[in-house]
Amino acid sequence: MAESTTYERIETPVLIIGAGAAGLRTAIELAQSGIRCLVLGKRRHGDAHTRWAAGGINASLGSLDAEDRWEIHAADTLREGHFVCDPRAVELLARHAPDRVRELQAWGCDFSRTEEGGINQRYFGAQSFRRTCFVGDRTGEAMLRTLVERARALEIPYRENTFVTRILVDDGRARGAVGFDMDTGRFLAFSAAAVVLAAAGHTALYRRSSSREDENTGDTVALACGAGAVLRDMEFVQFHPTGMIRPPEMRGRLVTEAVRGEGGRLFNASGERFMERYSPEQMELDARDVVARAIYEEIQAGRGTPGGGVRLDISHREADFIRERLPKIYGQFREQGIDITREPMEVAPTAHYAMGGVMVDFDTGATTVEGLFAVGEATAGVHGANRLGGNSLAETVVFGQITGAHLAGDLALTGTSVPPVGEDLVREEITALSRLAAADGEHEPRELVGELGVLLWDHAGIVRTEEGLGAGLATLQGVGRRARSLATAGTAGTEGLEWALNLRSMLLAAEMILRGALLRSESRGAHYRSDAPETRAEWRKSILYARNADDTLRLRTEPIPEPPSSVQAALDESHELDYHHLE
Ligand code: FUM
Repeated sequence: MAESTTYERIETPVLIIGAGAAGLRTAIELAQSGIRCLVLGKRRHGDAHTRWAAGGINASLGSLDAEDRWEIHAADTLREGHFVCDPRAVELLARHAPDRVRELQAWGCDFSRTEEGGINQRYFGAQSFRRTCFVGDRTGEAMLRTLVERARALEIPYRENTFVTRILVDDGRARGAVGFDMDTGRFLAFSAAAVVLAAAGHTALYRRSSSREDENTGDTVALACGAGAVLRDMEFVQFHPTGMIRPPEMRGRLVTEAVRGEGGRLFNASGERFMERYSPEQMELDARDVVARAIYEEIQAGRGTPGGGVRLDISHREADFIRERLPKIYGQFREQGIDITREPMEVAPTAHYAMGGVMVDFDTGATTVEGLFAVGEATAGVHGANRLGGNSLAETVVFGQITGAHLAGDLALTGTSVPPVGEDLVREEITALSRLAAADGEHEPRELVGELGVLLWDHAGIVRTEEGLGAGLATLQGVGRRARSLATAGTAGTEGLEWALNLRSMLLAAEMILRGALLRSESRGAHYRSDAPETRAEWRKSILYARNADDTLRLRTEPIPEPPSSVQAALDESHELDYHHLE
């Protein structure tokens, strides 16, 4: 990487960091309102993690189950979030999802249709009705393609291969960001009237994860925390029940919930349909935390396959149906010589989604730092302790639209002039980056990232204990000490620097997860403590995380407001998925 500290200056009214569905939907709303923005992504346009979200997007359209309505969607989300979601976020999500889905369809997203021509909906875990709209098992891909096409039609500028390292905050207000071009190594300084963080989560922290190894590496956590924003819910990490376990390069790759939504059954190595013991009513379509824990327990009890998984079988359905509804999964296993129309898949849980992230006001997308906004997986509060499958794609477009609309209104009043960002702040960051890029210490950053994967999987995984979390924190300190002596110099291009920065972000996210999980002395949703297996009423609150001036972390708790009466009424109606429709 070049040692030069010269940099390119770029000005834009709104800077959007992250080019998945959430970032793009925000940009589209701004552009439609006449506000210019610049979208930054680490990859080429259209190659974001949204592509990997497969099975569908939730919206209470009632195409097949006419009784469904937004209040029941909200009630399902709150219940399965174990009542630590932000009720306002849940209300907005459920109310606006139908409009966002219809809008995507109008923009060309080719949702599967019912015989009557409506948008088709499938079962997804723990939802009272068929609510998940889909494009085969490539829903995220289809949505992202639609949004990219729309963004291109609106001539929204996109800058690819851009790694953002710091949000610049001056006088308490976000004023831009610094980063570098991952192709050329050139430093970049962006000035903006507002900055939107849409850089997703941190599940690559886990040894087995559905993210690619260099995405979801915790950029959001590092950037938000560095800017002084408050985060929440970091102890809640979603483990998707079914990820591939082999070949090694596919380990953790998602096997969509749609397989179970279309009737897939889980068996242990002795051929027992074990969900009958864990959840006789909802079976394979219970919530993700329940199914992931059941699979984990089967494997721990020695009832797993020799490869360390369980079997997921959909071969009782017609082969044509499987190929039509699950073309991607069919192809994914076919490449490994497995025909899922005839034989089962071997699967095990995989880290999939970060419920934790930046605390925002969901009516505006505003974080606790003036001028800094956040959307999508980067935020926390919509999903509480456990996310419903299909709610993440809904979250991207619902809150992208809301945040874009708010910002557009705001900037129309205050103007879009961009004050120049302080030269000293830019220089400070670029000097630090140059030093890091030239570091010739002892430890390969990528190796330390690999150690973190094992540490988090073993100590803050599906089942946690006080002792294990404490030991994890002690080990983390050791990794942190070694991270002070990194060997980044001499690596090709910017790769060494990228991994050093990934490591920095992941260390911070790991500390938050471990400390939050230690503090939350109960079990709730995806946070399961075998030494404290009950859910405790006094823990119906959020843990908030913020950085002190000396870079240490402080944690505090905050109570959760009550849901609106219409949603409470839907909760009291006690709707529940009847799995046996599928049998
Ligand atoms: O299993 C899936 O298709 C994942 C969907 C989601 O996480 O929402």
